[in-house]
Amino acid sequence: MSVYAAYSHIANNLGAPPFLPLNRDRVGDVPLVNLTGGVPAADILPYESYSQAVGRVLGNPATAFSSVSYVSPFGIQELREQVAHWRGVPVENVLVTNGAMNGIFLAAQTLIDPGDTVLVESPTFPFALNIFRRAGARLESIALHAGGIDLDELEQRLREGRRYKLFYTIPDFQNPAGTLTSAEHKSRLLALADRYGFAVIADNPYRELWFDHEPDGFPDDYRHAERYSPLYEIGTFSKTLGPGWRVGWTIASSDVVQRMSVIRACVDGNSTALGQYAISCLLQEPYWFDRLLEAERALYRGRAQALVSALRTGFGDAVAFDEPRGGFFLWLGLPQGIRIDDPHVQDALARQNVLVTRGDSFAPEQPGRDPAHRDYADHVRIGFSALPERDLREGADRLAAALIGLA
Ligand SMILES: Cc1ncc(COP(=O)(O)O)c(C=O)c1O
Repeated sequence: MSVYAAYSHIANNLGAPPFLPLNRDRVGDVPLVNLTGGVPAADILPYESYSQAVGRVLGNPATAFSSVSYVSPFGIQELREQVAHWRGVPVENVLVTNGAMNGIFLAAQTLIDPGDTVLVESPTFPFALNIFRRAGARLESIALHAGGIDLDELEQRLREGRRYKLFYTIPDFQNPAGTLTSAEHKSRLLALADRYGFAVIADNPYRELWFDHEPDGFPDDYRHAERYSPLYEIGTFSKTLGPGWRVGWTIASSDVVQRMSVIRACVDGNSTALGQYAISCLLQEPYWFDRLLEAERALYRGRAQALVSALRTGFGDAVAFDEPRGGFFLWLGLPQGIRIDDPHVQDALARQNVLVTRGDSFAPEQPGRDPAHRDYADHVRIGFSALPERDLREGADRLAAALIGLA
């Protein structure tokens, strides 16, 4: 029997992990500067509080057994209520998930039939694309601009008769491009979704990590909906408390929450109970989370600024980028003529022992319909959250040393 025959169509066709590799070799004694990370800073996470919370949960007879047992597929009631209160929605609209990926997966399973078309931003987060492919969707892309996609263009496509099952968007501090959408944009997008009958999966893992201004929200009448609402808001504690907790949430209309919970019964049953109880215990402490978020915002703001000024010093105006306004990433347009899929460019980066995420990792496939489609090989994504300012400056210097003069 052919080895291919042993596996499902999906297992044979889904393809390699979407982040394209760069040479990871260490050069001599120069330590690697790894600018690929999309994780919180190791030195900001409050391990002592985590340890106390886990101890309290396991030491309390009222929660000890439940925290290692099966729990409600909707999430434990305490955490559901806390998330509902924090995000300003009724508790029936909240489903606790195993991080954002699980929320996207359950939403995709709830919405997509094989052959449906999913519209995605270009560039976008590639792991979500594989979730949609796995559900049998066809992908179509629409170019992302500074304030989100061009809604006139979307409306034009809809008027021409194109139909989408859902639009996947990362509304605030987009991964990789860092873009932010306004209240007007969010509200017009949902009006289009209502009129033309597509869902909006708004995956927003970085929304709490703003530097100066909290991002605008989606209109309340789509968030408090008793009737069906096209909006699926995906959130997570991965970027604020750490991805290892695997705890996130989806806010959607109660009927959607109900259906997602039924689907999860054949996927993972429920979200990790100990993690939910521990996070709920942490959130009970007045202002604990607010104070942590403030410290994180200040730390990441400083790191982003250090990176921006080092890039300006190293490259002058040879590179193009928007200054991050929150989140974890800076999306760097490389000097004219330099492409990250060029082996000479990869060699030069390897010689400097600096690692970045290739821009072409974030390109949705070319569906042959989008004249603005780009492959983003002229970009790289720099993650600034995980490294101290000194390493970010060193990384920017090495990038400049590798790339200036190469074109
Ligand atoms: C846009 C986006 N969605 C989802 C995720 C995954 O989040 P989680 O770890 O909560 O599953 C990430 C993490 O990098 C992300 O950038």
